Amino acid sequence: MKKIIIAIDGFSSTGKSTVAKQLAKKLGYVYVDTGAMYRAVTLYAMQHNFISKEYFKKEKLINSLAEIKLEFHFNTEKGFAEIYLNGKNVENEIRTLSVSQFVSTIAAVPEVRKMQVKQQHELGEKKGIVMDGRDIGTVVFPQAELKIFMTASAETRAKRRFDELIAKGENVTFQEVIQNIEERDKVDSSRKDSPLKKAEDAIVVDNSHLNPDEQFQKILQLAKEKIKA
Ligand code: DC
Repeated sequence: MKKIIIAIDGFSSTGKSTVAKQLAKKLGYVYVDTGAMYRAVTLYAMQHNFISKEYFKKEKLINSLAEIKLEFHFNTEKGFAEIYLNGKNVENEIRTLSVSQFVSTIAAVPEVRKMQVKQQHELGEKKGIVMDGRDIGTVVFPQAELKIFMTASAETRAKRRFDELIAKGENVTFQEVIQNIEERDKVDSSRKDSPLKKAEDAIVVDNSHLNPDEQFQKILQLAKEKIKA
């Protein structure tokens, strides 16, 4: 059967990764969470004191990029690939609110993006891939056969992210989470290099009023049509 590239872009916490994982599982495709890659570089920058609320040592980070090795290893129990930073599984560490607070700054650095996009191209070389992020349909794979752009209101998204963080035992307030989401939307959409924007040929899915299964069925149907075409 024909293998395609499925690009899923959109705002923070729109449920991109949930639907991308379901889709990859159903189709037997590889799932790549590119947000995890930017988050892992952010974690590296935090661990090396390159970034804090007071400063950002951008040049130091740029000069260290060659030291950062990112890999995905499939976790059979969880059913998806987890991210490793220099040999260490950082899948949980990268999801904290403190990483979220710095990630948009790191993701706006062109040298960081260049390195990530190169690795993303390699991961998608053989097709049969579902990749989610912000610039997949516009920059990484503008030739992707199926492009989805996911959106939902900031409140819906913040509620989702807040529930997730609380379930993981993080000590955060709803206000902090919604602020972070709105701030990231702003920075991600207004940066110079590869801003978050809908590709012209992307299909918009607003999931404010769709349950996860309805959303999955809708996107699966679109994917099947493209695979058949
Ligand atoms: O999908 P996420 O929320 O885990 O992504 C974290 C951040 O990484 C997001 O705020 C912007 C950045 N990002 C990006 O700039 N380009 C991508 N392809 C994916 C994520």
